[in-house]
Amino acid sequence: MTITQDGSAPLIAVVGATGNQGGSVVRALADSDKPYRVRGFTRDPRKPAALELSKLGVAVVGVTFVVENKDEVNKAFTGADFAFLVTNFWEHVDIDREIAEGKLLIDAAKAGGVSGIVWSGLPSISKISGGKFPHVWHFDGKAVVTEYGRQAGVPFVDVQAGAYGTNFFNLPFAPEKQSDGSFALQLPVNPTTAIPFIDTTLDYGIFVRYVLELPVFPDGGEFAAYAENISVKDLTRQWSQATGKNISFAQITVEEFKQRLESAGFPPHIVLDLSEALVSWDEFGWKVSAIPQGLVRSPRKWADFVKATDWSKLWETTAGPRK
Ligand SMILES: NC(=O)c1ccc[n+]([C@@H]2O[C@H](COP(=O)([O-])OP(=O)(O)OC[C@H]3O[C@@H](n4cnc5c(N)ncnc54)[C@H](OP(=O)(O)O)[C@@H]3O)[C@@H](O)[C@H]2O)c1
Repeated sequence: MTITQDGSAPLIAVVGATGNQGGSVVRALADSDKPYRVRGFTRDPRKPAALELSKLGVAVVGVTFVVENKDEVNKAFTGADFAFLVTNFWEHVDIDREIAEGKLLIDAAKAGGVSGIVWSGLPSISKISGGKFPHVWHFDGKAVVTEYGRQAGVPFVDVQAGAYGTNFFNLPFAPEKQSDGSFALQLPVNPTTAIPFIDTTLDYGIFVRYVLELPVFPDGGEFAAYAENISVKDLTRQWSQATGKNISFAQITVEEFKQRLESAGFPPHIVLDLSEALVSWDEFGWKVSAIPQGLVRSPRKWADFVKATDWSKLWETTAGPRK
């Protein structure tokens, strides 16, 4: 089935349609045997990713989701049956802005009259850690938006993305080349610390599609989108096996971790954010619910992801700044 223009098919309005998560949602809907109309948002309808969406049959709409543009944003979801919402913390690294824009999107989806909102949130590390780690803004801001969404008076579901496999191209997750030619993944966690891996562009969308295709929209639900919870030790072992490179895991201290990020030019608040995130996963775990039964297919596991990925840039440069 492809995306249809038939007015009887449900219309799904997708924020971030040119990006990793939203793009994956669009492709999962296009692959479904159920018909969908899709409205995909971008700030720049002329960019190549937007033109690709048009070719798929997506109605591409140019809009900038910022509070200064509230009137236009409030019209963006008119006529849609469901909304997929995501914010991009890493574009501005400002928790207040992420919260404001997340709430703006929820208000706009509600104003547009949708029957349900699927939001890409993350858990509150402050809450999970009992206040011990209050500075993981890229998680906590999304959790604030989730709370707002649950009170909005529109059926609301949170589909939390796990850790992207592509993170391992960039600091702090890129392994560093050693003088003997081997690579070391250096993080301030125990080797047994597990992360919920996801091949986002391939698989995030099948979780959102699963939610949209349940017989009853699961209002209040929280789903974790990941393929497996894999320890950093197993992750490097499987990565080595798949690529023939010698990649090992090295536990470093939090101070060493912070120094690496500082010398790579990360702003101080992001050094703190990422340090607390890592240490919290070590101490409390990155809490995820079970993978839902009934996905259209199994999400791709780490071993297959690393086999299918071209890592040549990583072997050449070893580590670049996070986008
Ligand atoms: N890396 C991880 O492991 C991980 C795990 C879980 C969650 N996350 C979260 O995932 C989020 C990023 O999602 P992603 O990877 O899908 O991002 P992405 O690939 O960088 O794409 C961002 C999308 O959002 C759109 N967008 C951003 N700001 C916009 C605005 N003001 N108005 C309209 N559209 C806007 C962009 O559209 P245009 O550029 O076309 O306008 C683009 O489609 C971050 O908040 C991050 O914290 C990441």
